[in-house]
Amino acid sequence: MYQKIILEGGRRLKGEVTISGAKNAALKLMAAALLLEDTSEIYNIPELTDVVTMASLLQTLGAEVDYDIKEKKIIINATNINNVEAHYDFVSKMRASFVVLGALVGRFHEAKVALPGGCSIGERRIDLHIKGLEALGAQVKIEGGYVIAKAKKLVGTKIYLDRPSVGATENIMLAAILAEGSTILNNAAQEPEIIDLANFLNAMGADVNGAGTSEIIINGVKQKDLKAVTYTTIPDRIEAGTYIAAIAATKGKAIIKNIFPNHLSAVTSKVIEMGGKVTILDPFSMEISCNTRLNATNIVTQPYPGFPTDLQSPFISALLMAEGISIITESIYENRFRQIGELRRMGADVQQESHKAIIKGVKQLTGAQVIASDLRAGASLVVAALCADGTTEISDIHHIDRGYEKIVDKLSGLGAYIKRVDIDETNLDGKIINIEENSY
Ligand code: EPZ
Repeated sequence: MYQKIILEGGRRLKGEVTISGAKNAALKLMAAALLLEDTSEIYNIPELTDVVTMASLLQTLGAEVDYDIKEKKIIINATNINNVEAHYDFVSKMRASFVVLGALVGRFHEAKVALPGGCSIGERRIDLHIKGLEALGAQVKIEGGYVIAKAKKLVGTKIYLDRPSVGATENIMLAAILAEGSTILNNAAQEPEIIDLANFLNAMGADVNGAGTSEIIINGVKQKDLKAVTYTTIPDRIEAGTYIAAIAATKGKAIIKNIFPNHLSAVTSKVIEMGGKVTILDPFSMEISCNTRLNATNIVTQPYPGFPTDLQSPFISALLMAEGISIITESIYENRFRQIGELRRMGADVQQESHKAIIKGVKQLTGAQVIASDLRAGASLVVAALCADGTTEISDIHHIDRGYEKIVDKLSGLGAYIKRVDIDETNLDGKIINIEENSY
């Protein structure tokens, strides 16, 4: 038994959609809870399979985890951590779990964490994570597929990252919280999720300054200075950006709620270039509307505050029927155009030349059977299907469920004809099911 999304395209999205808590922030806050000999109570936790995976990993380390899906709240008590090994079963499923490395080394001065390896979107190296931990005084070796780090003590120092890696910034920040003295991290990642992590750590008593700029200063504190914390995760700018792409692409008009509009500046600038209208309604919501065929545009993905790589895929789909030729340049990952072959099956005219996708806008896309190869490629197929004439069947939707809470319900709420079906491989009949009852 597996599931598919079936989508009948051609309807303009209308109404309003509420954005969930940010996956890529929530997962890191959960890992950061390991630093505390006390309780972290975190709100606005999205209902996603990745959250369940992280919760299970923390439990294997000895944390008590109480996940209240209805309240979108998770309570983690990391007082009695009795294991510093993050098993491959978790890290291979979800790369974000690699960030427990920094927290475990920071608190226990030792950790054994499975190497995430490459993934379908690129090589995704970890050299900068290791360089940072070594600079703080840890000895790090790779053995049997695991990163094994040990330190007699960690001492703050100056660390320069060769590129502003999100994960390396997070791991180094976590390892430096309880180190002796100050750590100055230069060319740090500036993503809103980094600011969220710093705010969470400061709320528990850490001393982190400059998050959101390229220089982060972490003044080491003592374990006894860290206290129980209650915190609310920021909204998911990537989920929001995906709905923005979908609304613009379907020539819709809808309000996006529970967002921080300034986290989406690069994205909304592109929507305006494409001929869409963006109206900021209040500090937490905006309206997106579009009533003509979109214009072609060029996009280059970059670290924040540039255009996010995670939204490259849905925006390619939004541009498939635009007037003219668009060029999308992917500068973060080596292999993030895997959806292009599937989009061609829907009638798209897209060529890949090295790290560029060249899109010639077509008049119409048609529904087809397609396969999601990763999370954002899946989102790209959903956006294309919303615009296409006829029915699209998307398989391998477990990728989509990693990052989009209740996507079927949210798009239905915007007027899309979309359903999730259980496919029984023995008779290939689809049976409509309810996502809440079946997602976990
Ligand atoms: C985070 O991944 C996100 N994941 C990704 O979102 C996102 O695409 C990425 O940041 C960039 O914004 C999570 O937060 C869980 P990086 P991360 O370290 O931390 C290279 C999604 O769809 N690099 O900034 O792994 C690396 O190879 C996911 O939700 C090194 O060379 O990203 C990549 O090309 C996918 N050496 C680039 O930097 C290193 O030591 C960016 O990686 C580390 C990274």
